[in-house]
Amino acid sequence: MRQTLRPLIAANWKMHGDLSWTSKPSDFAAIYPASERGHLDVLICPPATLLASMNDGVLLGGQDCHAAVSGAHTGDVSAEMLKDAGATYVIIGHSERRARGDTNADVNAKAIAATRAGLIPIICVGETENERDAGQAETVVSDQIRASVPDIEAYVIAYEPVWAIGTGKTATPKDVDDMHNAIRAQVGPTVQLLYGGSVKPANATELLALKNVDGALIGGAGLDMESLAAIARAAPKP
Ligand code: PGA
Repeated sequence: MRQTLRPLIAANWKMHGDLSWTSKPSDFAAIYPASERGHLDVLICPPATLLASMNDGVLLGGQDCHAAVSGAHTGDVSAEMLKDAGATYVIIGHSERRARGDTNADVNAKAIAATRAGLIPIICVGETENERDAGQAETVVSDQIRASVPDIEAYVIAYEPVWAIGTGKTATPKDVDDMHNAIRAQVGPTVQLLYGGSVKPANATELLALKNVDGALIGGAGLDMESLAAIARAAPKP
């Protein structure tokens, strides 16, 4: 039987966008009106510079946060600052941040910070191509979850195989299904599980139909509101 958790369709804009992009939420709402999508949540995580200026129409989130509330941390943004600027979610431990030094312990501390600020952390996990080829994908991901997820009530897991991010390569539905079933067994029935890695309108229906896939974390295809809307429309209605 399919899952019954509320779908979450999340766009990670990464380091893309200027002030002219702040109207994209209302563009999205014009393409896919809120009245037609009461069964799902749509989230955009823009660069922090745009957050406070974004139009209404979708939920907003940050792409990373510091673990502290404030302090001498040049270039960083706290979870409280993201909340103040309009965020309700924050992505934590994206592989592009892990590649720049974020450890599981850092991710864990940031997830605690997000919760402290009243944000829901989207905690990213995923294996590299070498780890998958070595048959270690499920072990790597379950170890990451064990070490990165603190003892908090509300969080989302995004499974993003590193080799599928921005490469056009998508994990097969069978790979995604196997991994999401394993993650579900580890985290229990109430945590939304997103798949990320080259999600686009052409593959969204198949991926979002999988039993334990409760949504998607989308990079490239989330920059364009037509394609983000097409992916959101592919989320099954409960
Ligand atoms: P992609 O990025 O959709 O461009 O592969 C996904 C992500 O990094 O969250």
